[in-house]
Amino acid sequence: MSTLSVNHLLGIKYLNKKDIELIFSTADHFKKVINRPIKKVPSLRDITIANLFFESSTRTKLSFEIAQKRLSADIINFSESQSSVNKGETLIDTVNNIISMKVDMVVLRHPKPGSADFLKQHVNSTIINAGDGANEHPTQALLDSYSIKQKFGSVQGKKIVIVGDILHSRVALSNIYALQLLGAEVMICGPYSLIPKYIQDLGVIVETNLLNALKWCDVANMLRVQNERMDFSYFPSVRDYTQQYGLTMPILNQLNKKIVVMHPGPINRGVELTSEVADSSQAIILDQVENGVAIRMAVTYLLASKIKS
Ligand code: NCD
Repeated sequence: MSTLSVNHLLGIKYLNKKDIELIFSTADHFKKVINRPIKKVPSLRDITIANLFFESSTRTKLSFEIAQKRLSADIINFSESQSSVNKGETLIDTVNNIISMKVDMVVLRHPKPGSADFLKQHVNSTIINAGDGANEHPTQALLDSYSIKQKFGSVQGKKIVIVGDILHSRVALSNIYALQLLGAEVMICGPYSLIPKYIQDLGVIVETNLLNALKWCDVANMLRVQNERMDFSYFPSVRDYTQQYGLTMPILNQLNKKIVVMHPGPINRGVELTSEVADSSQAIILDQVENGVAIRMAVTYLLASKIKS
């Protein structure tokens, strides 16, 4: 049986193309499972997983939890507000205490970039990064590429523009790595103030004009402006941002083709896209959410099989 080249999922930058293809083919199988009347398999009955969320999350947390339940794993959930972290405990101590309760795998979301890598070096458990600050969000990028593959049959040769707050977005970085591994062309689009200086080193095209970007692409992945990660303002006002980078139906209708619209959620309706666009037939936002469960089942299953072997 094929296995992943890694023992942890810390970031897409540690994966190769074969790993992603294996995750996708495993997700194809689990997608069938979750659409059956009995949506559950016993595969991980002997595995215990701790979901440690040090930052708020709706979709990602629920998606991991459902994925783990569908695989019959035992799970424990922890969020920072209810923990001893605010009594001064370190991350390593918190996690080592949890692992002493015979936990096999940790899913970590943390506001600080590099926290998943850091944890891997200090604790004896399989780690899945569920988003570390502005660094990586590997399962989001996997489900995004998987959704593009589902729509077009392949990611190879497709033109994807990622629009918005590239500077603060872990979704952007992980998407760039995943899409390039799978042979897509990647453009990023946003105001210069939200584009990191090093970005061209990653081999992406940079465009500041939304209409030009949309004319070029097959898919537009519209990101949220990450207000919680900004300590000062990166554009004059939200209205200015929306006027230049907000996606509306009239803009989509100006294009002489039907592009696919994606968004990782949570959407700020009326800012990065209008409700009309979010709810239109060109948007695959809810397909992304559905695919997220199958992708997280695949990743969890493949990493757990490495613990067992
Ligand atoms: C993203 C995140 O948390 O990085 N959301 C998600 O995981 N579904 C994107 C965002 O917060 O804008």
